[in-house]
Amino acid sequence: MTQKLLFFIFVIFFNTIQASDEIALPIVQDKCQHCHGMQGEASNVLYPRLAGQHKNYIIKQLHDFRSGKRKGTMNDMAKDLTDPDILALAAYFSSKPTLKHRVRNKELAQVGWFIFHRGNEYSGVPACSSCHGENAEGSDKLPRLAGQHKRYVADQLMEFNNRKRSNDNAIMHSVAEKLTELEIQAVSSYVSGLE
Ligand code: HEC
Ligand code: HEC
Repeated sequence: MTQKLLFFIFVIFFNTIQASDEIALPIVQDKCQHCHGMQGEASNVLYPRLAGQHKNYIIKQLHDFRSGKRKGTMNDMAKDLTDPDILALAAYFSSKPTLKHRVRNKELAQVGWFIFHRGNEYSGVPACSSCHGENAEGSDKLPRLAGQHKRYVADQLMEFNNRKRSNDNAIMHSVAEKLTELEIQAVSSYVSGLE
């Protein structure tokens, strides 16, 4: 009896994944892979990695790109996506395996470790880990930073600071405006090496 039930749950679960992949795959092949890669690995550092990024965070960003609340290259990519497309794409990329970078400048990454876990009490920078998690793994609504490209993380921090990226309800603006250039490079380098 229980075995039968488990089997049905498995079949339903499997079918849901397949159904969303059926919607996602053609869109990924046609559009997303050119910049983000088939597995969300984004081998070009100009584009963010989506592999293992949280589903709800991806959904929010795609809605914000579609509505124009977050601005950039992605506005064009998201404008024709339907709500079911967005759900399927978020499920697709969030299920892909995560990757980390090899950090070249170890000393710089150590400064990043300090900022990430302790913040900077002299300038009022909070510890990133208090929101993004001890291993930068993020959470249901907060982005994963672990393994992300250093350059993308640094760019986003600059954009939060100068308000070019303003779809975060000002939380990240108040964090980023207190970071120095050295702290930005250091913390970006540190998280890129986490898995
Ligand atoms: C021409 C290149 C390009 C294509 C094609 C593209 N993207 Fe993007 N994407 C970007 C860039 C660049 C960013 C970073 C935000 C910015 O600067 O506009 C981004 C950001 C994102 C983000 C936010 C990531 C984060 O960490 O906040 C998501 C989600 C995303 N893209 C999903 C997609 C999906 C889904 C597709 C296919 C429908 C797609 N992208 C197609 C270039 C592209
Ligand atoms: C009070 C909570 C909080 C703290 C502390 C915090 N963040 Fe964030 N961060 C957020 C939220 C919320 C978002 C998502 C914004 C959105 O929805 O667009 C975010 C987004 C980001 C992003 C964009 C990720 C992407 O994929 O585009 C980066 C990069 C980032 N944070 C870095 C940092 C760093 C580095 C620190 C420490 C110096 C930090 N954050 C501290 C809440 C926080």
